[in-house]
Amino acid sequence: MIEVGVSDIGIYVPPFYLPHEELAEARGVPKEKYIMGLGNQKMAVIPNWEDAVTMAANAAMQVLEKTGTDPEEIQQLVVSTESGVDHSKAVASFVQGLLKIGTRCRVYEVKHACYGGTAGLVDSIDRISQNRKTTRKGLVIMTDIAKYGFGNAGEPTQGAGAVALLVEKNPRLCHIDTSLNGVFSKDVFDFWRPTGHRIPIVDGKYSIECYLMALEGAVSEFRSNLELEQGKLLNYLDYIIYHMPFTNMAKKAHRRLIEIEFEGKDLETQEEIYNQTFSKKVAPGLMGVREVGNIYTGSVYMGLVSLLENEREKVEGKRIGIFSYGSGCGAEFLLYNFQKDISGIIDSLHFKEQLDKRKKITFEQYTQFYSKSSEEVFYYPGEANYFKNEYTKFVFTGFKDHKRQYI
Ligand code: CAA
Repeated sequence: MIEVGVSDIGIYVPPFYLPHEELAEARGVPKEKYIMGLGNQKMAVIPNWEDAVTMAANAAMQVLEKTGTDPEEIQQLVVSTESGVDHSKAVASFVQGLLKIGTRCRVYEVKHACYGGTAGLVDSIDRISQNRKTTRKGLVIMTDIAKYGFGNAGEPTQGAGAVALLVEKNPRLCHIDTSLNGVFSKDVFDFWRPTGHRIPIVDGKYSIECYLMALEGAVSEFRSNLELEQGKLLNYLDYIIYHMPFTNMAKKAHRRLIEIEFEGKDLETQEEIYNQTFSKKVAPGLMGVREVGNIYTGSVYMGLVSLLENEREKVEGKRIGIFSYGSGCGAEFLLYNFQKDISGIIDSLHFKEQLDKRKKITFEQYTQFYSKSSEEVFYYPGEANYFKNEYTKFVFTGFKDHKRQYI
């Protein structure tokens, strides 16, 4: 059987961040609540000359350039987002235009909160695997701006960014057998954004419960598909990446996985297993969320990039469990099998470099950027040129005849 999976990854984060110490001080909250309680240190702040389209195109352009992929070879372009820019025209169509992807390509946008990207990835893997031509590729992009509103409990978990995955046969990075995937979905109101609302409505504590319920459901089906006995999963997986709306959600998820796997064992034993496994199998994927915050659809894939940059060649030949969760809710647990000889791909990620190049802004600048009136003032080219770096290839320049303009 021909393997299908991910050959390369591109990641893009906006050029500004606000440290959580400053947000905490301004909100009159002890900084330990954000830094220790949620586990986040900085949050990415997006200027109004960038949006879901530019971040998606900026992440995907890296993939096309570094792999020398001819845009004509892309036969499926999927963009997943809950930060869409139009009720009708797909973000994927804007991206198709910016990347000059040909007309013989299936192009669509998918939405299912933070889970949508995984749905698009699974669909793309299945489509590419059915295609007779081995040269055809899929491009799956997750792009989002997480904004909860000033003073909201979710504010310290905000972030923005995009991740692009190149899907093909005989993948260079990892192959994924989608028949193993464990899925879970249920109609719930844990986090939603009614049409016309700028920010979501969140039932924060309930959303954590829904996440953990979905983890339990998806893991149980995954384990059964693998024909693995209860209690054997942690040994089977070398690393696990959980969807991470904030860093410590990974801790809650890992504790729940241990409860499910070692049901009936006393709390002390469970705690021991947690301590033995979290730092080795989960912590290497936490860098992105700590530094950027929640990027919704791309969150779990930013975890993957973090793992690659932190562990480097140690992940070669290893099995990674990926838990993707989206409110509403939908979830899937997948297995990524890493190939050997991937150091070239890891070298080309440049994620830490992008994080280091960002500029720190003040709390006042953040409130200006995210105030409603600022969102309505459109991009000013001179300003954008000063701030953008080599990863910012595309910017939003405003509207002409009600049409969004990009350069
Ligand atoms: N020092 C250290 N720790 C402190 C502290 C202090 N001074 N004060 C509080 N803490 C700890 C708390 O004990 C708590 O830790 P535990 O959860 O481990 O007990 C943590 O800091 C957070 O404190 P609270 O629970 O009091 O925080 P909160 O009520 O203000 O909100 C939240 C937390 C519900 C996660 C909120 O940030 C939120 O609504 N976030 C958005 C929704 C979300 O991310 N949900 C996650 C699941 S849904 C999902 O995954 C989809 C998605 O991407 C949105």
